[in-house]
Amino acid sequence: MSIPGVKKEPAPGFAGGTYPGLAGKVVLNAGGSRGIGLAMAHGFARHGAKIMLLASGESGLDSARAELEAAHPGVEVEVFAASVADDAAVERACAATEAHFGRIDVLLNNAGIAMNKPTLDLTAAEWRQAIDIDLSGVFFCAQAAARRMMAQGAGAIINTASIWGVSSSAGRTAYCTAKAGVVSMTRSLAVEWARHGIRVNALCPGYTRTELVDRYVRAGRIDAEVLADRTPLGRMAEPEEIAETALFLASDAATFITGHAFVADGGWTADGFGR
Ligand SMILES: NC(=O)c1ccc[n+]([C@@H]2O[C@H](COP(=O)([O-])OP(=O)(O)OC[C@H]3O[C@@H](n4cnc5c(N)ncnc54)[C@H](O)[C@@H]3O)[C@@H](O)[C@H]2O)c1
Repeated sequence: MSIPGVKKEPAPGFAGGTYPGLAGKVVLNAGGSRGIGLAMAHGFARHGAKIMLLASGESGLDSARAELEAAHPGVEVEVFAASVADDAAVERACAATEAHFGRIDVLLNNAGIAMNKPTLDLTAAEWRQAIDIDLSGVFFCAQAAARRMMAQGAGAIINTASIWGVSSSAGRTAYCTAKAGVVSMTRSLAVEWARHGIRVNALCPGYTRTELVDRYVRAGRIDAEVLADRTPLGRMAEPEEIAETALFLASDAATFITGHAFVADGGWTADGFGR
């Protein structure tokens, strides 16, 4: 995708890893219809995993499935339309995944919305929407998936938080609060479920070229060049660079990693001075 004002550059030197243990794994991918979640689906499909895409109704689930099937012949992809904010629908999505594929090995808790607004202008409905989707939705998916993983004695959960889960900024109170909650929730769940063989990690991306960012750039509410310049590596992430960290965290290369907030941000949070 192209974002006005920023030259599209391929991620310099990027080469995805290979994790043979991901072959045949069943992956429930919440928010997998586009952006970072769809890039994750491509990464798991490349490894021979089976994928259930979950996203809200009108979000391009069928075109995402068609894209995956065209790119990875033979891949098994199912779709389920639901809002992660609806706990009963999330439970139905997990039941459907189990009914179709027999188990859930990996949960990608990726569904999310942005909420950038001066705090005094934020309505109660907007606050609730951000918390319902970005925080409660992560919890509902984790709880429903973990019920299956516990019975299996194994599983990996990757919760997509953000740099705004480990740092803060003006005009993002609801988003920062939700994402910091995701990081904290990740640690709690990791500790509670470790003895059941379930690893839980958070992924904290920096700014990444997706529809979520593009919408704000198009509306003139964020400046893509400023974001790129603020990032020590001098650019935004490509979705496949963020997806790569999820592959690693889900893989048997990461068997001793749990309760971690994995930052992939081109140095953004390391640079306390900013620019
Ligand atoms: N793009 C970035 O710069 C960036 C940076 C840090 C963190 N993140 C986080 O990464 C995740 C994915 O972001 P993205 O940029 O790919 O966004 P995106 O808008 O491109 O995609 C979001 C996905 O979530 C789904 N979704 C949204 N609300 C939902 C709901 N209520 N129920 C089910 N599905 C829902 C959408 O259908 C879509 O599949 C989000 O959690 C976001 O907060 C993004």
